[in-house]
Amino acid sequence: MAPDLPALVDEVATIMHAMEDRGRVASYIPELAKVDPAQFGIAIATADGRLIAGGDADTGFSIQSISKVFALTLALGKVGDQLWERVGREPSGNAFNSIVQLEQEQGIPRNPFINAGAIVVSDVNLGGHQPRVAIGEMLRFVRYLAGDDAIAINEEVAASETATGFRNMALANYMRAFGNVRHPVDLVLGSYFHQCAIEMNCRQLALAGRYLMLDGRHPEGGRVVSPGRARRINALMLTCGHYDASGDFAFRVGIPGKSGVGGGILAIVPGRASIAVWSPGLNENGNSQLGTQALELLARRTGWSVFSPPDAR
Ligand code: DON
Repeated sequence: MAPDLPALVDEVATIMHAMEDRGRVASYIPELAKVDPAQFGIAIATADGRLIAGGDADTGFSIQSISKVFALTLALGKVGDQLWERVGREPSGNAFNSIVQLEQEQGIPRNPFINAGAIVVSDVNLGGHQPRVAIGEMLRFVRYLAGDDAIAINEEVAASETATGFRNMALANYMRAFGNVRHPVDLVLGSYFHQCAIEMNCRQLALAGRYLMLDGRHPEGGRVVSPGRARRINALMLTCGHYDASGDFAFRVGIPGKSGVGGGILAIVPGRASIAVWSPGLNENGNSQLGTQALELLARRTGWSVFSPPDAR
């Protein structure tokens, strides 16, 4: 029987609002440390065109690393498979901001979702232009995916990370030494930090993810990416989207997902749903604690999993 999604979304939001252990809000970006942890939002865009939302689904948050999915989509559109000469496709087994593998692996990051990989993707997307051009392109792309021109960048968050992003500066400089960052580091990071500072609410984010549940199609018509590319992006989300907790996320939730330190997660059920959850408190791996729990509950109750036969979901 098809799940009663509105009832289930309400139930998940009620359960999550009552949770006491909400994790810890990210503090290494000072602006993010100001966010109230007592919030939880969820929105599900379904393949048959519904949008079901609950909790704080209308409150905007910093999408942070979730932007890496959209940036990867743009970069693949620009350079295609050549991207894989500069970025790997393997889980790193390390934290999102780790530098340890870069020396042994000659400045080639393991995947496009760890910070090092996303910085190379930003370098590709910069393509010889000024950061404002690349940032404008990214913003237009996300607005087009969500069908919402109100989506904007939170400049305070971008400035906050620019002032404190020492690890990212180290990563970018290190890769520049290997020739895998080709533009000046401050331009690449200017673009990367602004992309991470895009603010969206759960409704907007679930809508923006629809092309990944629809085999690359935009629901309003036309194609965002080919079916093969949509499947590969989903594969990377499943294997690398939660950093060194990607295996645990696949085990517990069983669908592709990409997290951000703002507390959001975009999760995709191919052919069925694009789901956004948000709660600012993070677990020890830097992924939303309640967001992960909510997706686990939702997947269990709906039967949604990329590991079960389609007729079982
Ligand atoms: O570069 C950073 O550290 C942040 N702008 C993004 C990191 C992030 O979202 C990690 N995800 N959970």
